Amino acid sequence: MTYASWSKDEALLVLSQTRDKPGPVLISLQAIQSVFGFVPTPAVALIAEACNVSRAEVHGVLTFYSDLRTFLLPANHVRVCVAEACQAVGSRELVSGLKSQGVEFDKAFCFGNCALGPSATVNGKLQGRASVDSVVKAIQG
Ligand code: FES
Repeated sequence: MTYASWSKDEALLVLSQTRDKPGPVLISLQAIQSVFGFVPTPAVALIAEACNVSRAEVHGVLTFYSDLRTFLLPANHVRVCVAEACQAVGSRELVSGLKSQGVEFDKAFCFGNCALGPSATVNGKLQGRASVDSVVKAIQG
């Protein structure tokens, strides 16, 4: 996925479309991230001003939701569910298998795919009954 480079003008254009919606801080953060791939630090002040809230409030929302980020994701982003239902069907083995293969990943807590665990995502695409092989194949395309 290709994202725009940081631009204050572009950010202000995005915020002009989100600041008057209900729950404007979260919606603005999501919109900024969808354009730039992450929430750049200068965007926090712009969102605070556009939504008429403090920078601390914007920062609080930004750091509360794990799907919001302040950095660009790597080329291949793997997430593995380590919540209870997936642990019961093998996510610990998946985690250790991925580590042994040198695959970097983030832990997640439930994708809502519990019945088909262990669950993982590769670049946002959900896998049920995930295995080391299925994850590695998805990374390799
Ligand atoms: S517990 Fe893993 S997807 Fe719900």
